[in-house]
Amino acid sequence: MKNVHVINHPLVQHKLSLMRMKDTSTGKFRTLLRELSILLGYEVTRNMPMTSVRIETPLGYEMDAPVLQKKKMALIPILRAGNGMLEGFLQLMPTCKVGHIGLYRDVQTASVVEYYFKVPKDIKTRHALVLDPMLATGYSAVAAVSRLKEKQPKSIDLVCILAAPEGIRYLQEHHPDVTVYTAGIDEGLDEKKYIIPGIGDAGDRLYGTL
Ligand code: URA
Repeated sequence: MKNVHVINHPLVQHKLSLMRMKDTSTGKFRTLLRELSILLGYEVTRNMPMTSVRIETPLGYEMDAPVLQKKKMALIPILRAGNGMLEGFLQLMPTCKVGHIGLYRDVQTASVVEYYFKVPKDIKTRHALVLDPMLATGYSAVAAVSRLKEKQPKSIDLVCILAAPEGIRYLQEHHPDVTVYTAGIDEGLDEKKYIIPGIGDAGDRLYGTL
């Protein structure tokens, strides 16, 4: 699939399998989600632009040492499960600014309703990374990206733990410019729109509200 990166590093796959297990506790699930986020963040940032600075080492040698060019990022978790990915990303990139988008699904109309939206004031100067563990139908992802585009960040990418082919297709139809990073792509959705075989309800498992 175009613009989709599946991170199949052994540590990522191992941790994803632990998250899938139904007996994994809330505390363990939370830790795994944070750890997976760090590992995904490592891959997402793989092609960050570099420059060099002249430095002197303790041994008195000078060298041109590679350092990151300033690339300003904004992390945008979708509430509430996206918050479980935030800490891991902030550990890697502690100077990122953070926005939040709160969305819920209206069961009567099946439409996505926004209940919270706050992003950094200088978002136009930043590259946005939308964080949401599950890309299921893609409805929330499309709503979040559409809303974010109104604020004109320099670019938008999406990081999830698990994606369904339906969600990827829907997102690509609406926002072909968005790259998706994920630890896995599962078979599809069940009648309740859960990803199968999946990891269950990510928000409930993260916060122990099952
Ligand atoms: N959201 C979840 O938390 N889990 C799914 O399987 C689908 C959407």
